[in-house]
This record gives sequence, C-alpha cells and structure tokens, in this order.
Amino acid sequence: MADTKTLTLSVIKADVGSYTGHNRVHPDLMAKARECLHEAVTRGTLIDGQVMRCGDDINLIMTHRRGVEATEIHKLAWDTFMACTAVAKKLHLYGAGQDLLVDAFAGNVKGMGPGVAEMEFVERPSEPVVVFMADKCAPGAWNLPLYRIFADPFCNAGLVIDPKMHEGFDFVVLDLVKAASITLSCPAELYDLLMFIGAVNRYAIKQVRRHIDGEPAAVASTQKLAHIAGKYVGKDDPVMFVRAQAGLPGVGEVMEAFAFPHLVEGWNRGSHHGPLMPCRFEMANPTRFDGPPRVVAAGYQIADGKLIGPVDLFDDPAYDGARAKANEIAEYMRRHGPFQPHRLPLEDMEYTTMPAIMGRLKDRFRAE
Ligand code: F6R
Ligand code: MG
Ligand code: MG
Repeated sequence: MADTKTLTLSVIKADVGSYTGHNRVHPDLMAKARECLHEAVTRGTLIDGQVMRCGDDINLIMTHRRGVEATEIHKLAWDTFMACTAVAKKLHLYGAGQDLLVDAFAGNVKGMGPGVAEMEFVERPSEPVVVFMADKCAPGAWNLPLYRIFADPFCNAGLVIDPKMHEGFDFVVLDLVKAASITLSCPAELYDLLMFIGAVNRYAIKQVRRHIDGEPAAVASTQKLAHIAGKYVGKDDPVMFVRAQAGLPGVGEVMEAFAFPHLVEGWNRGSHHGPLMPCRFEMANPTRFDGPPRVVAAGYQIADGKLIGPVDLFDDPAYDGARAKANEIAEYMRRHGPFQPHRLPLEDMEYTTMPAIMGRLKDRFRAE
C-alpha cells in the first residue's frame, strides 16, 4: 500500500451493455455503478468515487491511497461492471458484459477487458484535473492532443513562458503490438517522438511527466481489446486525465488541444475514421452511423482526495465551432462510403469479411 501522502486517481472504464444498440448507457446501470462506488466509499476502500459515461461506456472515477494496480480497487471496478452487466442482462440491453473478456477476476483488470488510466501523485494545495472520456475511438486518439498539450507552444504557451515547463516533458510511448514502451524527452527528441506517435494505430502515449522533476502530468488508457482477445470483441474507447495549472499546462491550454476535431479510428464497427467531436456530457450519444466519435471532459478540483466537480468543460460556445467542423468533416468522410481513408486499412479493421471473401475467390486471381 502506498503511503498516506500520495493519492491515486484511477479511471477504469468498460462497455457492459447499452441502448438502443451501442448508443448510450442506461440510467439503471449508472445508478448501480454509483451504488457500488458509494458502498466502497462507506467501507473506506475509496476516498471518493464518481460515475460518468460517454456514449455506451461507463467510466468509474475513483480516488484512494492504495497505489496503482491495487487489487482491491481493480476488483471493485470488476465487481461493479459485473453488477451493471446483471442489470443490462435483465433489461436485454445490447452487448451486455461485452468488455468483460474473462469469467473470473484475477488480481488486475488489465488484460481482462476494461480500460485503465491510473496515476499516483502527491496532491498539491490546489489540484485541478481534467478527465477525458471518449467513445467510438481507439487508444491512439489521445496522441495528437497530448502532443499539442505537452509539446506544442502554439497550444500551450506555458512551454515558452513558464520556467517549470520550459525544459519540456517526457513521453512514455507504448508499442501496442509488441507491448513494449520507450520514453522520449521533448523538445530534444521531438522529431523522434512524432515518428512514433503519428502512427496512431501502432503507438500510443501512455504517460507524460514533467522533465525537470518527473512530476506526473498525464496518463492514458492504452488497452486494445482486439489484441487482448485476438479478435474483435468491442471497442477500446479510451480515457485519459491531465493534471493542470501551477507549473503544468493551464486548464485552458489543455482544452485548447480539442478545439480541432482531428480524425480518429473507431467510428462504426471500429472500422472507420471520423472526427473526434468535443461534447457536453448530455451530447455524448453517438447516433449518426454510430458516431461520429465523441469526447467529453470532466473537470475536478481534488480536495484531500475528494472529487470537487465535475465541471462540464466542453459546455462552452467556444466549442460550437469544433462541433460544427466535426459535423462538416463527418459529412465529407461519410461520402467516401466503404472507401479508404474513411474505411480503415484492411489490417486495422475491427470487423472483416476479407478472409472469407479471399477464401472463396483466391483461385480466380491470375498472375499479371
Ligand atoms: C460499437 C460500435 C458500433 C458497432 C456496430 C455493429 O461501439 O461502434 O458501430 O460496431 O453497430 O455492432 P454489432 O456487430 O454488435 O451489431
Ligand atoms: Mg456497446
Ligand atoms: Mg463505446
């Protein structure tokens, strides 16, 4: 167990059933999850816990002093998702229990289906944190905004102006295929970093730390369900959170990265590119062609481990332009129908009939 000065923020998410189809989480599942976290706070397992959703994904936002990858916390998340699955089954919701890939909990939810972003840190006298939750997208979706927040002075003016940020940030990048990570220091290794993280289907930023002192600044979930299960089983819809202010990017500098609705993988059948639309909480209901992909941002102040918030940070007309642009891009992409680059390259599609089609037609190919 970690010492009592350090706090752990654990954000653990799963899609355990939704309605109608893959559209959104049913209120009864939200209520069940809240009940489970409330009991955990009463027992003293958690300091605080909140339940949020984005589209069909339930996000458990939990504070505690047990450190990252604590069995008790992961078991709590697992049991909560199991309890929600039971409700989903009763209501015949769609995809009940879809992200719970194994029958029994085995110490840590990593590799078992749910997405996890966890960080241990010493709580500052005032601790602003922004939790981002996405739907219909893949872990590499955070690469571009994390790059802009922590390495691009056109987004984060603090990189130029704030002495604590002037030495830059270190990025831990995960190779999703080899399950190996590398740490790259920016600005010194900025071009090396971009070579990796621009390939969003292969490399995902997992953590960011301030260079001068290693202060943890951001963490993202990087689980790829397809790689865990070996086949398409559901979405990897990722979460991440960023600590802000006082020597870290300001909340506005964090949010600035989402004013541009960049293209991400994961729209419809996990097989299409689409723009990531920044939404207010109640707008995160991906409907058109099961999309376009969504992101919501919950802002908190942490006070002795208590979650003060959430503030709905995309509830600002300043994001109306990004939403309108996302709709325009969505329309443009949709007009490509089954053609790339709207449809993903063959090897990245979550669903594919290609093996069956090729099996049937392979003998009809003639050498040219
Ligand atoms: C799920 C998603 C959807 C589904 C699609 C087909 O989050 O993005 O686009 O992939 O609706 O779903 P199934 O195969 O479950 O009928
Ligand atoms: Mg679903
Ligand atoms: Mg989802």
